[in-house]
Amino acid sequence: MGLIELAALTPVAEGGGRRVYLHPAFPDCLLKVEKDKPPATARQKVDRLLASRLPSFAVRDMRSEIGAYVDARLRPDRPDGPFPAAEFRGLVDTDLGLAMRVQRISVAGQVLGPTVRSLAGPDVALSDAHLALLNEFAASLFAWNLRTRDLNPRNIVLGDHDGGERFYLVDGLGDVTVVPLNTWFDAANRVELNRQFDLCAGRLRLRWDKGRRTFARG
Ligand SMILES: Nc1ncnc2c1ncn2[C@@H]1O[C@H](COP(=O)(O)OP(=O)(O)O)[C@@H](O)[C@H]1O
Ligand SMILES: [Mg+2]
Repeated sequence: MGLIELAALTPVAEGGGRRVYLHPAFPDCLLKVEKDKPPATARQKVDRLLASRLPSFAVRDMRSEIGAYVDARLRPDRPDGPFPAAEFRGLVDTDLGLAMRVQRISVAGQVLGPTVRSLAGPDVALSDAHLALLNEFAASLFAWNLRTRDLNPRNIVLGDHDGGERFYLVDGLGDVTVVPLNTWFDAANRVELNRQFDLCAGRLRLRWDKGRRTFARG
């Protein structure tokens, strides 16, 4: 079997670091590839030199993302309720380099579900229904105590689930700190989740209530 060909396709989305393609053979999956790096600054040249010498440096983010996913899915004390992040379905070779294959999250026949960022908009508040779903999402992240590094509203996507809708984390799993205290200690991770949800609330002009672990207006 040859490489999966993506170079001639148009990405369906992109973020700061990756391009997202529909899987040419499995429409329920997406493929994510790293973008080409812009011209290197001196600092980036040092990073690249390090990367060429120390492969673990180059793949640190991907390794921590996959590691956090695997650790969560293999928990012996599986919490009730569905897993709150898109499924990771493997690493595959493409003509654009190594790609992560993931579950495609979508609503009502759209290619991709809307992000929380797009549902809130710069001047539009999140609807009551979406706010309630966001609070269910937060409760689920705490129940699984997922290790995350970026609960940005662009990384949280609305998708169909069981005849209804729910939010899924599609990016930002994994603890990339040098000394991974949040990975080792559940209590430390709960403090970190509170910190990241507080940042997320600020971006949506909401308030994060640490005691109740919910988003509130105003
Ligand atoms: N599994 C997914 N299902 C639906 N949409 C997704 C999925 N993964 C990513 N996206 C969309 O693609 C965008 C970029 O993907 P992301 O993984 O966040 O890239 P980056 O690492 O560059 O931030 C997201 O903001 C989201 O809109
Ligand atoms: Mg992202």
